[in-house]
Amino acid sequence: MNFASDTTAPAHPDVLQAVLAANDGAAPSYGADRWTKKAQQALSAVFETEDIAVTFVNSGTAANALALSVLCPPDGAILCHENAHINRDERGAPEFYTHGGKLHLLAGAHDLITVGAMTPVLADMDRHFVHETPVDVLSLSQLSEAGTAYTREDVKALCALAHNADMRTHMDGARLANALVSTGCSPADMTWRAGVDVLSFGFTKNGALGAEAIILFGEQAKRLGALEARRKRGGHMPPKQRFVAAQVLAMLQGGLWLDLAGQANKAAQVLAEGFVNAGASLQHPVHGNEVFVCLRDGQAEALRKAGAQFYDWPDGSARFVTCWNTTLDDVQAALRVLS
Ligand SMILES: Cc1ncc(COP(=O)(O)O)c(C=O)c1O
Repeated sequence: MNFASDTTAPAHPDVLQAVLAANDGAAPSYGADRWTKKAQQALSAVFETEDIAVTFVNSGTAANALALSVLCPPDGAILCHENAHINRDERGAPEFYTHGGKLHLLAGAHDLITVGAMTPVLADMDRHFVHETPVDVLSLSQLSEAGTAYTREDVKALCALAHNADMRTHMDGARLANALVSTGCSPADMTWRAGVDVLSFGFTKNGALGAEAIILFGEQAKRLGALEARRKRGGHMPPKQRFVAAQVLAMLQGGLWLDLAGQANKAAQVLAEGFVNAGASLQHPVHGNEVFVCLRDGQAEALRKAGAQFYDWPDGSARFVTCWNTTLDDVQAALRVLS
Protein backbone atom coordinates (compact mmCIF):
# COMPACT_ATOMS: atom_id res chain seq x y z
CA MET A 1 0.00 0.00 0.00
CA ASN A 2 2.75 2.40 -0.97
CA PHE A 3 1.08 5.44 -2.51
CA ALA A 4 3.64 7.97 -1.29
CA SER A 5 5.27 8.86 -4.62
CA ASP A 6 6.36 7.38 -7.91
CA THR A 7 9.92 8.30 -6.90
CA THR A 8 9.73 5.62 -4.17
CA ALA A 9 9.23 2.85 -6.74
CA PRO A 10 12.03 0.47 -7.65
CA ALA A 11 13.60 0.52 -11.11
CA HIS A 12 12.17 -1.83 -13.71
CA PRO A 13 14.25 -5.03 -14.17
CA ASP A 14 14.77 -4.28 -17.90
CA VAL A 15 16.41 -1.00 -16.94
CA LEU A 16 18.76 -2.76 -14.53
CA GLN A 17 19.52 -5.38 -17.18
CA ALA A 18 20.36 -2.65 -19.69
CA VAL A 19 22.71 -0.95 -17.22
CA LEU A 20 24.45 -4.29 -16.60
CA ALA A 21 24.76 -4.89 -20.33
CA ALA A 22 26.31 -1.45 -20.78
CA ASN A 23 28.89 -2.32 -18.12
CA ASP A 24 31.14 -3.82 -20.74
CA GLY A 25 34.70 -2.56 -20.83
CA ALA A 26 35.75 0.98 -21.64
CA ALA A 27 33.54 3.46 -23.44
CA PRO A 28 34.02 7.12 -24.40
CA SER A 29 32.90 9.47 -21.63
CA TYR A 30 30.71 12.60 -21.28
CA GLY A 31 28.15 11.51 -23.86
CA ALA A 32 30.47 10.43 -26.66
CA ASP A 33 29.45 6.79 -26.14
CA ARG A 34 27.33 4.64 -28.45
CA TRP A 35 24.43 4.30 -25.98
CA THR A 36 23.96 8.06 -25.97
CA LYS A 37 23.91 8.11 -29.77
CA LYS A 38 21.40 5.26 -29.90
CA ALA A 39 19.17 6.86 -27.26
CA GLN A 40 19.20 10.13 -29.22
CA GLN A 41 18.19 8.24 -32.36
CA ALA A 42 15.48 6.35 -30.48
CA LEU A 43 14.05 9.63 -29.17
CA SER A 44 14.12 11.05 -32.67
CA ALA A 45 12.00 8.07 -33.78
CA VAL A 46 9.60 8.42 -30.82
CA PHE A 47 9.05 12.11 -31.64
CA GLU A 48 8.92 11.45 -35.39
CA THR A 49 11.46 14.12 -36.28
CA GLU A 50 15.14 14.45 -37.07
CA ASP A 51 14.96 18.10 -36.16
CA ILE A 52 15.80 17.67 -32.46
CA ALA A 53 18.79 17.86 -30.14
CA VAL A 54 18.86 15.72 -27.01
CA THR A 55 20.88 15.59 -23.84
CA PHE A 56 20.51 13.71 -20.55
CA VAL A 57 20.56 14.44 -16.82
CA ASN A 58 19.73 12.54 -13.64
CA SER A 59 16.94 14.60 -12.09
CA GLY A 60 13.81 16.38 -13.19
CA THR A 61 14.88 19.53 -11.39
CA ALA A 62 18.12 19.63 -13.37
CA ALA A 63 16.20 19.03 -16.60
CA ASN A 64 13.78 21.87 -15.89
CA ALA A 65 16.36 24.37 -14.66
CA LEU A 66 18.77 23.72 -17.53
CA ALA A 67 16.01 23.73 -20.14
CA LEU A 68 14.68 27.04 -18.85
CA SER A 69 18.17 28.51 -18.67
CA VAL A 70 18.53 28.34 -22.45
CA LEU A 71 15.10 29.89 -22.99
CA CYS A 72 14.96 32.72 -20.46
CA PRO A 73 17.49 35.56 -20.15
CA PRO A 74 18.55 36.79 -16.67
CA ASP A 75 16.28 39.84 -17.00
CA GLY A 76 13.29 37.90 -18.31
CA ALA A 77 10.46 35.88 -16.78
CA ILE A 78 8.84 32.46 -17.07
CA LEU A 79 5.06 32.22 -17.01
CA CYS A 80 3.93 29.16 -15.04
CA HIS A 81 1.14 27.93 -12.80
CA GLU A 82 1.46 29.05 -9.18
CA ASN A 83 1.61 25.40 -8.09
CA ALA A 84 4.14 24.39 -10.74
CA HIS A 85 6.98 22.22 -9.52
CA ILE A 86 9.43 24.83 -10.85
CA ASN A 87 7.85 27.34 -8.46
CA ARG A 88 7.04 25.30 -5.37
CA ASP A 89 9.49 22.44 -5.24
CA GLU A 90 12.83 23.26 -6.84
CA ARG A 91 14.42 25.55 -4.27
CA GLY A 92 14.83 28.37 -6.79
CA ALA A 93 16.75 26.21 -9.28
CA PRO A 94 15.15 27.88 -12.35
CA GLU A 95 16.01 31.34 -11.00
CA PHE A 96 19.52 30.12 -10.12
CA TYR A 97 20.23 28.54 -13.51
CA THR A 98 18.78 31.46 -15.47
CA HIS A 99 20.95 33.79 -13.34
CA GLY A 100 17.94 35.71 -12.10
CA GLY A 101 14.99 34.99 -14.41
CA LYS A 102 11.71 35.58 -12.55
CA LEU A 103 8.74 33.25 -12.30
CA HIS A 104 5.48 34.97 -13.20
CA LEU A 105 2.68 32.99 -11.56
CA LEU A 106 -0.81 32.25 -12.87
CA ALA A 107 -3.77 30.76 -11.02
CA GLY A 108 -6.03 28.15 -12.60
CA ALA A 109 -8.36 25.33 -11.56
CA HIS A 110 -6.80 21.87 -11.26
CA ASP A 111 -3.36 23.45 -11.67
CA LEU A 112 -3.89 24.04 -15.39
CA ILE A 113 -3.09 27.29 -17.18
CA THR A 114 -5.84 28.56 -19.46
CA VAL A 115 -5.90 30.93 -22.42
CA GLY A 116 -8.19 33.13 -20.31
CA ALA A 117 -5.58 33.46 -17.56
CA MET A 118 -2.72 34.08 -19.95
CA THR A 119 -4.35 36.62 -22.28
CA PRO A 120 -4.53 39.62 -19.88
CA VAL A 121 -0.91 39.13 -18.79
CA LEU A 122 0.24 39.32 -22.38
CA ALA A 123 -2.10 42.20 -23.20
CA ASP A 124 -0.67 44.24 -20.29
CA MET A 125 2.95 43.51 -21.15
CA ASP A 126 5.14 46.19 -22.69
CA ARG A 127 8.46 44.65 -23.72
CA HIS A 128 9.94 48.09 -24.37
CA PHE A 129 9.18 49.54 -20.95
CA VAL A 130 12.49 49.25 -19.15
CA HIS A 131 10.97 48.93 -15.66
CA GLU A 132 8.93 45.85 -16.55
CA THR A 133 10.14 42.25 -16.57
CA PRO A 134 8.92 40.77 -19.87
CA VAL A 135 7.67 37.17 -19.89
CA ASP A 136 9.89 35.25 -22.28
CA VAL A 137 8.86 31.68 -21.64
CA LEU A 138 5.68 29.71 -20.99
CA SER A 139 6.20 26.54 -18.93
CA LEU A 140 3.45 23.88 -18.79
CA SER A 141 3.56 20.78 -16.58
CA GLN A 142 2.26 17.59 -18.17
CA LEU A 143 0.84 16.02 -15.94
CA SER A 144 0.16 19.08 -13.84
CA GLU A 145 0.89 19.10 -10.12
CA ALA A 146 -2.78 18.20 -9.56
CA GLY A 147 -2.37 15.10 -11.71
CA THR A 148 -4.40 16.59 -14.57
CA ALA A 149 -3.46 16.55 -18.24
CA TYR A 150 -3.61 19.26 -20.86
CA THR A 151 -5.21 18.06 -24.09
CA ARG A 152 -3.28 18.51 -27.31
CA GLU A 153 -5.69 21.33 -28.22
CA ASP A 154 -4.95 23.09 -24.89
CA VAL A 155 -1.20 22.87 -25.50
CA LYS A 156 -1.62 24.09 -29.06
CA ALA A 157 -3.72 27.10 -28.05
CA LEU A 158 -1.41 28.10 -25.17
CA CYS A 159 1.77 27.70 -27.23
CA ALA A 160 0.27 29.72 -30.10
CA LEU A 161 -0.57 32.51 -27.69
CA ALA A 162 2.99 32.43 -26.34
CA HIS A 163 4.62 32.40 -29.76
CA ASN A 164 2.43 35.29 -30.92
CA ALA A 165 3.79 37.25 -27.96
CA ASP A 166 7.37 36.44 -29.03
CA MET A 167 7.82 33.91 -26.21
CA ARG A 168 9.29 30.42 -26.20
CA THR A 169 7.65 27.36 -24.67
CA HIS A 170 8.75 24.64 -22.25
CA MET A 171 7.00 21.49 -21.07
CA ASP A 172 7.85 19.86 -17.75
CA GLY A 173 7.16 16.30 -18.84
CA ALA A 174 8.11 14.56 -15.61
CA ARG A 175 4.95 12.47 -16.14
CA LEU A 176 4.51 12.94 -19.89
CA ALA A 177 4.06 9.18 -20.38
CA ASN A 178 1.04 9.15 -18.06
CA ALA A 179 -0.49 12.11 -19.89
CA LEU A 180 0.04 10.50 -23.30
CA VAL A 181 -1.58 7.26 -22.22
CA SER A 182 -4.60 9.01 -20.74
CA THR A 183 -5.14 11.41 -23.66
CA GLY A 184 -4.28 8.85 -26.35
CA CYS A 185 -2.09 11.47 -28.00
CA SER A 186 1.24 10.76 -29.72
CA PRO A 187 4.49 12.19 -28.29
CA ALA A 188 4.96 14.37 -31.38
CA ASP A 189 1.40 15.69 -31.37
CA MET A 190 1.54 16.59 -27.68
CA THR A 191 4.89 18.39 -27.98
CA TRP A 192 6.56 20.00 -30.98
CA ARG A 193 3.56 19.70 -33.31
CA ALA A 194 1.53 21.54 -30.66
CA GLY A 195 4.21 24.22 -30.33
CA VAL A 196 6.47 23.00 -27.51
CA ASP A 197 10.04 24.24 -28.06
CA VAL A 198 11.84 22.45 -25.24
CA LEU A 199 10.80 19.38 -23.27
CA SER A 200 11.98 17.96 -19.95
CA PHE A 201 11.18 14.30 -20.54
CA GLY A 202 11.06 12.18 -17.39
CA PHE A 203 11.84 8.48 -17.14
CA THR A 204 12.70 8.18 -13.45
CA LYS A 205 9.17 8.26 -12.04
CA ASN A 206 8.09 5.87 -14.79
CA GLY A 207 10.59 3.08 -13.99
CA ALA A 208 14.18 4.21 -14.65
CA LEU A 209 16.90 4.36 -11.99
CA GLY A 210 17.56 8.02 -12.69
CA ALA A 211 17.28 9.32 -16.26
CA GLU A 212 15.71 12.43 -17.75
CA ALA A 213 16.10 13.79 -21.27
CA ILE A 214 16.12 17.44 -22.31
CA ILE A 215 14.85 17.74 -25.87
CA LEU A 216 15.24 20.86 -27.98
CA PHE A 217 12.86 20.88 -30.95
CA GLY A 218 13.20 22.65 -34.30
CA GLU A 219 14.88 26.07 -34.13
CA GLN A 220 15.81 25.51 -30.48
CA ALA A 221 18.02 22.55 -31.48
CA LYS A 222 20.59 25.20 -32.38
CA ARG A 223 20.88 25.97 -28.65
CA LEU A 224 22.43 22.56 -27.89
CA GLY A 225 25.91 24.07 -27.53
CA ALA A 226 24.63 26.57 -24.98
CA LEU A 227 22.74 23.82 -23.15
CA GLU A 228 25.78 21.55 -23.04
CA ALA A 229 27.94 24.37 -21.68
CA ARG A 230 25.40 24.97 -18.91
CA ARG A 231 25.06 21.25 -18.24
CA LYS A 232 28.82 21.04 -17.69
CA ARG A 233 29.07 24.27 -15.72
CA GLY A 234 26.10 23.29 -13.58
CA GLY A 235 27.62 19.91 -12.73
CA HIS A 236 25.11 17.81 -14.63
CA MET A 237 27.28 16.15 -17.27
CA PRO A 238 27.71 12.55 -16.05
CA PRO A 239 31.17 11.23 -17.01
CA LYS A 240 29.73 7.71 -17.48
CA GLN A 241 26.71 8.89 -19.39
CA ARG A 242 26.36 5.52 -21.13
CA PHE A 243 24.55 4.24 -18.02
CA VAL A 244 21.96 7.02 -18.19
CA ALA A 245 21.44 6.54 -21.93
CA ALA A 246 21.16 2.76 -21.48
CA GLN A 247 18.25 3.33 -19.10
CA VAL A 248 16.46 5.52 -21.64
CA LEU A 249 16.97 2.89 -24.34
CA ALA A 250 15.51 0.19 -22.11
CA MET A 251 12.49 2.33 -21.29
CA LEU A 252 11.82 3.08 -24.97
CA GLN A 253 12.40 -0.50 -26.10
CA GLY A 254 9.11 -2.02 -27.28
CA GLY A 255 7.13 0.87 -25.77
CA LEU A 256 7.89 -0.18 -22.18
CA TRP A 257 7.56 3.44 -21.01
CA LEU A 258 3.96 3.61 -22.21
CA ASP A 259 3.07 0.16 -20.87
CA LEU A 260 4.37 1.10 -17.42
CA ALA A 261 2.50 4.41 -17.44
CA GLY A 262 -0.63 2.52 -18.51
CA GLN A 263 -0.32 0.18 -15.51
CA ALA A 264 0.12 3.09 -13.11
CA ASN A 265 -2.81 4.99 -14.67
CA LYS A 266 -5.08 1.95 -14.46
CA ALA A 267 -4.27 1.47 -10.76
CA ALA A 268 -5.05 5.15 -10.13
CA GLN A 269 -8.42 4.87 -11.90
CA VAL A 270 -9.45 1.85 -9.84
CA LEU A 271 -8.29 3.54 -6.65
CA ALA A 272 -10.21 6.72 -7.48
CA GLU A 273 -13.41 4.81 -8.28
CA GLY A 274 -13.06 2.88 -5.02
CA PHE A 275 -12.63 6.09 -3.03
CA VAL A 276 -15.77 7.57 -4.57
CA ASN A 277 -17.71 4.36 -3.86
CA ALA A 278 -16.54 4.65 -0.24
CA GLY A 279 -18.07 8.12 0.01
CA ALA A 280 -14.91 10.21 -0.46
CA SER A 281 -14.74 12.96 -3.08
CA LEU A 282 -12.06 13.67 -5.67
CA GLN A 283 -10.35 17.03 -5.47
CA HIS A 284 -9.23 16.89 -9.11
CA PRO A 285 -10.08 14.74 -12.13
CA VAL A 286 -7.75 11.74 -12.35
CA HIS A 287 -5.93 11.85 -15.69
CA GLY A 288 -2.81 9.91 -14.78
CA ASN A 289 -1.23 8.19 -11.81
CA GLU A 290 -2.15 10.67 -9.06
CA VAL A 291 -5.33 10.73 -7.01
CA PHE A 292 -6.13 13.75 -4.83
CA VAL A 293 -9.00 12.84 -2.58
CA CYS A 294 -10.95 14.40 0.28
CA LEU A 295 -11.40 11.42 2.56
CA ARG A 296 -14.26 11.17 5.03
CA ASP A 297 -13.72 11.40 8.77
CA GLY A 298 -11.63 8.53 10.05
CA GLN A 299 -10.70 7.15 6.61
CA ALA A 300 -7.17 8.57 6.54
CA GLU A 301 -6.48 7.25 10.04
CA ALA A 302 -7.84 3.81 9.15
CA LEU A 303 -5.71 3.65 6.02
CA ARG A 304 -2.56 4.71 7.87
CA LYS A 305 -3.26 2.25 10.66
CA ALA A 306 -3.47 -0.50 8.04
CA GLY A 307 -0.06 0.57 6.69
CA ALA A 308 -1.01 2.70 3.68
CA GLN A 309 1.44 5.45 2.78
CA PHE A 310 0.28 8.71 1.22
CA TYR A 311 0.74 12.44 1.76
CA ASP A 312 -1.55 15.07 3.22
CA TRP A 313 -1.66 17.83 0.61
CA PRO A 314 -1.58 21.57 1.48
CA ASP A 315 -5.08 22.05 -0.04
CA GLY A 316 -6.56 19.68 2.57
CA SER A 317 -6.82 16.64 0.30
CA ALA A 318 -4.73 13.46 0.50
CA ARG A 319 -2.42 12.56 -2.39
CA PHE A 320 -2.12 8.95 -3.53
CA VAL A 321 0.40 8.21 -6.29
CA THR A 322 0.47 4.90 -8.12
CA CYS A 323 3.65 3.54 -9.71
CA TRP A 324 4.61 1.24 -12.55
CA ASN A 325 4.68 -1.66 -10.06
CA THR A 326 1.45 -0.87 -8.18
CA THR A 327 -0.77 -3.93 -8.50
CA LEU A 328 -4.54 -4.05 -8.43
CA ASP A 329 -4.09 -6.17 -5.27
CA ASP A 330 -2.32 -3.19 -3.63
CA VAL A 331 -5.25 -1.00 -4.61
CA GLN A 332 -7.86 -3.50 -3.42
CA ALA A 333 -6.02 -3.87 -0.11
CA ALA A 334 -6.39 -0.12 0.47
CA LEU A 335 -10.01 -0.07 -0.61
CA ARG A 336 -10.89 -3.02 1.66
CA VAL A 337 -9.87 -0.84 4.62
CA LEU A 338 -12.66 1.58 3.67
CA SER A 339 -15.36 -1.01 2.99
C1 LIG B 1 5.97 17.78 -12.14
C2 LIG B 1 7.37 17.54 -11.64
N1 LIG B 1 8.40 18.11 -12.29
C3 LIG B 1 9.66 17.93 -11.90
C4 LIG B 1 9.97 17.14 -10.81
C5 LIG B 1 11.41 17.08 -10.37
O1 LIG B 1 11.98 15.84 -10.37
P1 LIG B 1 13.21 15.49 -9.42
O2 LIG B 1 12.64 15.15 -8.09
O3 LIG B 1 13.81 14.31 -10.15
O4 LIG B 1 14.15 16.63 -9.37
C6 LIG B 1 8.95 16.50 -10.11
C7 LIG B 1 9.24 15.66 -8.93
O5 LIG B 1 8.42 15.32 -8.13
C8 LIG B 1 7.60 16.73 -10.53
O6 LIG B 1 6.57 16.15 -9.88
